[in-house]
Amino acid sequence: MKEQLEAIRALALSAISGAETGSALEAVRVQYLGKKGELTAVLKQMGSLTPQERPVMGQLANEVRSAVETALEAQAARLAEKALAEKLAGETLDVTIPGKKCQVGHKHPMYTVLDEIKEIFINMGFEIMDGPEIEQADYNFTKLNAPENHPSRDWTDTFYLTEDSSILLRSQTSPMQIRAMETYGVPIRMISPGRVYRKDEVDATHSPMFHQIEGLVVDKGITMADLKGTLNAVIREIYGPNTVTRFRPHHFPFTEPSCEVDIQCHKCGGAGCPTCKGEGWIEVLGAGMVHPKVLRGCGIDPEVYSGFAFGMGLERLAMGQFKISDLRLIFENDARFLEQF
Ligand code: PHE
Repeated sequence: MKEQLEAIRALALSAISGAETGSALEAVRVQYLGKKGELTAVLKQMGSLTPQERPVMGQLANEVRSAVETALEAQAARLAEKALAEKLAGETLDVTIPGKKCQVGHKHPMYTVLDEIKEIFINMGFEIMDGPEIEQADYNFTKLNAPENHPSRDWTDTFYLTEDSSILLRSQTSPMQIRAMETYGVPIRMISPGRVYRKDEVDATHSPMFHQIEGLVVDKGITMADLKGTLNAVIREIYGPNTVTRFRPHHFPFTEPSCEVDIQCHKCGGAGCPTCKGEGWIEVLGAGMVHPKVLRGCGIDPEVYSGFAFGMGLERLAMGQFKISDLRLIFENDARFLEQF
């Protein structure tokens, strides 16, 4: 029996050191120490020993068992350590490898111009307002004093969203005049940039969606002189200090008197050239004194308060500033174009 026990010890220990996986190791344990294992089988023969031999063999058997158990534990620990080392090696991070370059977006030239304009107005004490592109006809037309039969109300010009012509895609940013007065009351000094929509065919100067910047000032004692002074100051900030302007009478339902503002062509100095289409002047905005009916409709007494409003096209400004010849380039989002600015 002694030989059997020694043989088990030797075989078990070598099997343990050869087990390279957790399951191989477990198989070795079952083979030698399990209920039907080899050591157990030997112990079952204890009964056939003499009383003198029994304690000696019992002690040896215990030694073998504990030697095998210790070896099993040690090998299990070794395997775990090896697994961890392999995992760590597999996850090594080389911090010296150059990073992947991430693609950073590019500011659109039109927003460059818009940010400049916002800055000019903020410096003059104006607030920036944002408003809905889906608008009520009431705000887009009626409260702006546009008569029921005004051509701009026509379905051929405006994108209506309901059969009863009550909801539409705003055709101008002027409804923001009404919203500003209704929401904040007087005094008020605000600009409101945003998208507007008209049923225009796309060409070099037209798009069914474009951007306007609305402006509104209402306070006591505001006159046409404030309108001219403010707009001249803004235009000279945008186009340069020596820019010549011209205020031409015009008509808008919501301003009285109304005007359009031209700048003298900076290309030809007013002589007439392709840039100004031979006119010598380039139209840059519409403006006027807020109509008393509009003020009254917003709960403001026109006997006490007066104001001026203006609206300009943002695309046209950007095209002038960056010498962009075709409006379509602004909306096509061709990176080759956008990256030039
Ligand atoms: N809303 C007018 C347009 O789209 C421009 C405008 C705004 C005119 C404010 C006067 C005052 O043509």
